[in-house]
Amino acid sequence: MVAEIDRNPWRSDFSVLNQTMHGKRLAFLDSGASAQKPDVVLDAVRSALADGYANIHRGLYEFSQGKTAAFEAVRRKVADFIGARDAQSIVFTRNSTEAINLVAQSWGRTFLKEGDEIILTEMEHHANFVPWHILKNQIGIVIKYIPVLDDGALDIGALSELLTNKTRLVAFTHVSNVLGTVNPVAEISKIVRKFSSDIKILIDGTQGVVHAPVDISAFDPDFFVFTGHKLYGPTGVGVLYGRKELLDSIPPWQGGGDMIERVTLDGVAFAPVPAKFEAGTPAIAEVIGLGAAIDYLNAIGMDKIAAWEQKVLHYATEKVSAIEGVCVYGTTAGKAGIISFNIDGCPDADIAMILDRCGVAVRTGHHCCQPLMQRFGVEGTVRASIGLYTNKDDIDQLVAGLLKARDMLL
Ligand code: ALA
Repeated sequence: MVAEIDRNPWRSDFSVLNQTMHGKRLAFLDSGASAQKPDVVLDAVRSALADGYANIHRGLYEFSQGKTAAFEAVRRKVADFIGARDAQSIVFTRNSTEAINLVAQSWGRTFLKEGDEIILTEMEHHANFVPWHILKNQIGIVIKYIPVLDDGALDIGALSELLTNKTRLVAFTHVSNVLGTVNPVAEISKIVRKFSSDIKILIDGTQGVVHAPVDISAFDPDFFVFTGHKLYGPTGVGVLYGRKELLDSIPPWQGGGDMIERVTLDGVAFAPVPAKFEAGTPAIAEVIGLGAAIDYLNAIGMDKIAAWEQKVLHYATEKVSAIEGVCVYGTTAGKAGIISFNIDGCPDADIAMILDRCGVAVRTGHHCCQPLMQRFGVEGTVRASIGLYTNKDDIDQLVAGLLKARDMLL
C-alpha cells in the first residue's frame, strides 16, 4: 500500500507544486479550498487571453467567432462531464455560491411563499445555508434540517419525518467539505420523489465532482451546482445545471447585455436559456480554462483519480489517527479525500501556523460550516484535503509537522 502511493503518476503535470513555502518542500493539503492547476490549464487560460482574444457572442469577425465557439464547446463538455443530456441546461456562474443564490432568488422568490418549507442538512457549507436564510427573511419560508450522526453520516431516517405537504425543496451537499462524508444522493432523491414528485431537489456537487465520477442522470436532480476552481480549473467560473423546462419557467436573476432578445424603451424580451441567466461579459478565459481542466481529468479518468485518492486517504487516516490526542471528525465508510481533526489541548490555528512553517498548507477554522461545528461542539478543526496530486511525502510531511506542533503546544 505505502509503495503504491510513493510515486504519483500525475504530480509532474503540476509545475506549481515545485514551489517551496518558507524554504520547505510544499505539501499542499488544501485542495478542498481551491485546487492547484495543471500546466495545461495555465496554458489554456494564457492562450485564451493572448491568442485571438475577443469578446464572445457579439462580433462577426474571426477572433470573436473563434472565442465564441471555444466558450460554447465547454458548455457541452461540462454537460457530458456530469451526465447532463442538454448542453443548454448548463448555466455559467461565478461559482457554486452564485449558482445557489441564483436558484434561491429566481426560482425561490418566484415559486415559494410564506410558510413553505425547505429541507437542508446540518452539514451544508454556508453557500447552501445563507441564500436560503436571505429568502427566509424576504418571504418567510421555513427551513428544516436533516441531522448529522456522530460518525458524520446524515440521519436519513429523519428525512421522512421532515417531509410534509408544505415541503418545496430539499437541498443538500453531495460530499461534506469538512467530514468527507459522501451522501447517498440516489437514496435521498428516491425518498423525496416517492413522497412527492413536486418537491425540487438541489445538489451541491462542489466537493463531489472533484473526487470521483458523477453521473447526474442516475439521480436526476432539478438543480446541480459546482465550481471550477476546486476542479483544477480557474477561479471565477461555476456551473448551474437546471432541468431545462424549469430554467425556462423561472425569471432571470440579473439583467444586462447578452441576456436579451429585444429591448425597447417600454420593456425587455429575454433571450432563451442559458443566455437568460448570463448577463454581461462572462468569464471567457476562465470558462475555456475549465474546459481544459475537464479534458485533463477525462484523459486520466475520474475513476483512476478516485482510486488513487482512496489509497492516500487510507494512509493519511491511519497515520494521523495514530497521533496521541487526535480526534477525527467524519469516519463513514467510503468517505472522500478529506480528513478533519483536532489534537487535544492544541488550538487549530496554532497548529496551522506551525504547519505553515513546515511547508504544509491545510485549512483550519470553521470551514464555512459553523452549524456543523456547533453540532460537534467545536470552534474549528484542522482539515487536510487531498487532490489528485497528493502523495505519500505530503502525508509524511503533515504527520511530522503535527508531531512538532504537539510538542511545541503541549
Ligand atoms: N468551500 C471551500 C472550503 O471548504 C472554501 O474550504
